[in-house]
Amino acid sequence: MSEVVHTGVEGLDELLSGGFPKGRIILVLGGPGTGKTILAAQFLWKGITQFGENGIFVSLDESQNHFNAEMLKFGWDFKKAEKEGKFLFIDATRLSRVAMLKEKMLREETSSLRGKQLQIDRLIEELQAKIQHIGAKRVVLDTLASLFYRFMDPIERRTASVDLIEALSDLGATTIVTTELSYLGLERNLMDEEFLVHGVIMMQTLFSGGATTRALQVEKMRGASVNPNLVPYTIDKGGVEIFPTMPVFSEK
Ligand SMILES: Nc1ncnc2c1ncn2[C@@H]1O[C@H](COP(=O)(O)OP(=O)(O)OP(=O)(O)O)[C@@H](O)[C@H]1O
Ligand SMILES: [Mg+2]
Repeated sequence: MSEVVHTGVEGLDELLSGGFPKGRIILVLGGPGTGKTILAAQFLWKGITQFGENGIFVSLDESQNHFNAEMLKFGWDFKKAEKEGKFLFIDATRLSRVAMLKEKMLREETSSLRGKQLQIDRLIEELQAKIQHIGAKRVVLDTLASLFYRFMDPIERRTASVDLIEALSDLGATTIVTTELSYLGLERNLMDEEFLVHGVIMMQTLFSGGATTRALQVEKMRGASVNPNLVPYTIDKGGVEIFPTMPVFSEK
């Protein structure tokens, strides 16, 4: 088995028999509000504070101020980590910004595909430079789903996300890429993205008999023996915690 990287997320390493495969890409898949951003940030924070691995958060979704403020609620002071040279935030929302004005959106959508791809190339170059700058070993890209807004055409979008994942795999950092469970609210289907990555983790909210439970499953982890069961997890002031030996719904 290849070298593993401890995630530092309570219960997750146990589920993964140690952690993520080093230098590989893990797709974290889930619906809105399932905790994808928190889990991904936790992986970076634990890397920085427990395992001496610097990290970079690439955001296609939210601004740095918003991210810092949200994560501080868990006691994760990314602003401080940045000052210490252990963390960098890349604001890539320009790649995905949902056109606030329809007019602007139309203009963007009629701009060339080449133009949009150039922006992705630039993002990768920026990321590569920053990885070298702080010697980052962990990277998060949150969230691939946001590219949807930029690339309305499904084929263009797929090409863009596939290009992005391929470029990320060349950078050598252990990387979490988050994405929505499905685009456009369609039933889940296997996406090209899932074939390209080394691991897939699915986060979901289940409803049964009036009860709601958060459940997580490692759907795939190449080259590692993992616990493939659907297991419960919680989100509280410490972040995400996974319970590998507990049933999702307790028996009556
Ligand atoms: N301190 C807390 N205690 C309990 N639950 C919390 C706490 N902080 C946040 N949450 C829960 O975490 C979830 C949001 O997590 P997060 O932003 O990581 O989700 P996400 O999957 O990234 O969502 P989105 O698709 O909207 O980006 C919400 O369901 C919220 O209720
Ligand atoms: Mg999120």
